[in-house]
Amino acid sequence: MSAFDTIDDLPTDRRVLVRLDLNSPVEDCEPQDNRRFERHARTVRELAEAGHRVVLTAHQGRPGRDDFTSLSGHAAILAGHVGREVNFVADTYGDEALAAIDALGAGEILLLENTRMCDGELPEESPEEKAATEFVETLAPRFDAYVNDAYSAAHRKHASLVGFPLALPSYAGRVMETEYEANTAIATREFDGPVTMVVGGTKATDVIGVMDALDGTVDRFLLGGVAGELFLRAAGHSVGHDVGGTELFDEQWKANRELIESVLDERGDTIRLASDLAYEDPDGDRAEVAVDDIDEKTAEYLDVGSETVAGYEPFVRESDAVFVKGALGVFEDERFADGTVGVLEAIAETDCFSVVGGGDTSRAIEMYGMSETGSITSPSPAVRTSGR
Ligand code: 3PG
Repeated sequence: MSAFDTIDDLPTDRRVLVRLDLNSPVEDCEPQDNRRFERHARTVRELAEAGHRVVLTAHQGRPGRDDFTSLSGHAAILAGHVGREVNFVADTYGDEALAAIDALGAGEILLLENTRMCDGELPEESPEEKAATEFVETLAPRFDAYVNDAYSAAHRKHASLVGFPLALPSYAGRVMETEYEANTAIATREFDGPVTMVVGGTKATDVIGVMDALDGTVDRFLLGGVAGELFLRAAGHSVGHDVGGTELFDEQWKANRELIESVLDERGDTIRLASDLAYEDPDGDRAEVAVDDIDEKTAEYLDVGSETVAGYEPFVRESDAVFVKGALGVFEDERFADGTVGVLEAIAETDCFSVVGGGDTSRAIEMYGMSETGSITSPSPAVRTSGR
């Protein structure tokens, strides 16, 4: 039996509120097209073609960050993928939004403004508290059903994710269905050989929580990115601090120090840390340094070093399943893509079951000319991606 109802279970002719995750890289104030649009387009198209009235809600960035923008540009990109008009209203639940929702005809699509611009969406609170926000109480009566397609944002206790399911009959969209199946494989599937998880990216708080939750199901963790440095810091190395204005390490260290130390203490034998790191030298070239030789962190480390990559690859090659949660370096810059690409290439050369997710990590597959499988069940010499 499925863990939840899907859009296949929706009665006909519904007014549907759909939560997507359109959070995208923003350049010159413009959202950049990426696989999230293409994937969500399937859910949106199916709902519109079935004749439902489709209202979309999504977020972009966080208040105070450069990528915290309106969703007006997102509507145009999504329309291109859906192959239908996607109307946009620069309002979340005020009069303008309500009028646009009420005016929607069967099969029409409307995208509401960035949900993080409305009071009540943030901060994280219980589902009951979120269901009691003015945002949810105003919008919910306008709809017959709520569809969550935002797998990659579903770990946030925000109103658009946890509030509406208490107020409306709820269904999973196509992305949610597929991602759930792929990502829960790590906990629910039996693998004959070792299970490896590559842990990187910048959202250390999220990935450390995942490591903790997967106690017993993963045979080894290969670390890089911000989480990797924080674990090195816990192991007594002089890294994992903010330098030159970065704001990635000290706050996340404070929030996770106890958990990191206990994970390292109790399961240290399953955790592999980088032995060298890469940084940009004064000439703008990639340079590397052995972690043991770092007395003080003076540079930003942008990738794991070549000795680390060479050490990680064999673990990947001999695994039966590999889950990648975040990039090992700043792969968007070719000079610092070695760790991320090295791991992905090793996955592509084996026939292991693989899921690649975590922020933009799956973009690396496209950027560096690898291919990905469409099916989560067939092992293939390619890489399966996940939005998360
Ligand atoms: C993502 O892009 O990882 C998700 O949309 C979650 O975004 P958040 O970390 O800002 O909540």
